[in-house]
Amino acid sequence: MSPLFISLEGIDGSGKSTQTQRLVEWLQTQGRDPVRTREPGGSAGAEEIRRLLVEGDPDRWSAETEILLFTAARRDHLERTIRPALAAGRDVVTDRFADSTRVYQGATRGDLRGLVDRIHAAAIDVEPDLTLILDMDPELALSRGLARDSGEDRFEDFGLPFQQKLRAGFRELASEAPERCVLVDASTDPDTISGTLSQIVAERLSRR
Ligand code: TYD
Repeated sequence: MSPLFISLEGIDGSGKSTQTQRLVEWLQTQGRDPVRTREPGGSAGAEEIRRLLVEGDPDRWSAETEILLFTAARRDHLERTIRPALAAGRDVVTDRFADSTRVYQGATRGDLRGLVDRIHAAAIDVEPDLTLILDMDPELALSRGLARDSGEDRFEDFGLPFQQKLRAGFRELASEAPERCVLVDASTDPDTISGTLSQIVAERLSRR
């Protein structure tokens, strides 16, 4: 069985973690052995870097420093979790990957996309086989995100205009890479969304 590397992307509070879990469960029902993971994090070292990134003041780091920290975390995640899983023939389902850096750091605070792309090419240079982008109105997503009050609200704290830029950035990415990215309406109920996601993945698996 050739393994599938899948990422879920979207603005804060778009329901990615629920949908990541459901997709993993659906893959198991298909007789597959998926690994569920997330960014920033997904390996012991990357989880340590995560704390530096998601806690504290919104202006704690410059966007440039953030790019380096997210990329350091991603490199560790790739070496310790993603590559070994794929090499063992297991699907990987990650809650966020490089598209989050392209959008959060590359498109929202100054035009740093060029820097993001150069650092990605030098240190990561891998894309998922399939990226599912959960698309929804930031106002709805933001109310859900802040309601969780997890202490990890540094990016939510940037506010609504920031989330609107993020949504536009993800939609733009979907049109830049239509072979890899699928935009999914995430404003409906969780069952409808998970049904759509498993259909998309089933279709990808049937092509292999
Ligand atoms: P995440 O845990 O996915 O938060 P949420 O569940 O609220 O969506 O990600 C933490 C924050 O880190 C989130 O606000 C998005 C941000 N982020 C970046 O800015 N760049 C990145 O490369 C990644 C992976 C995440």
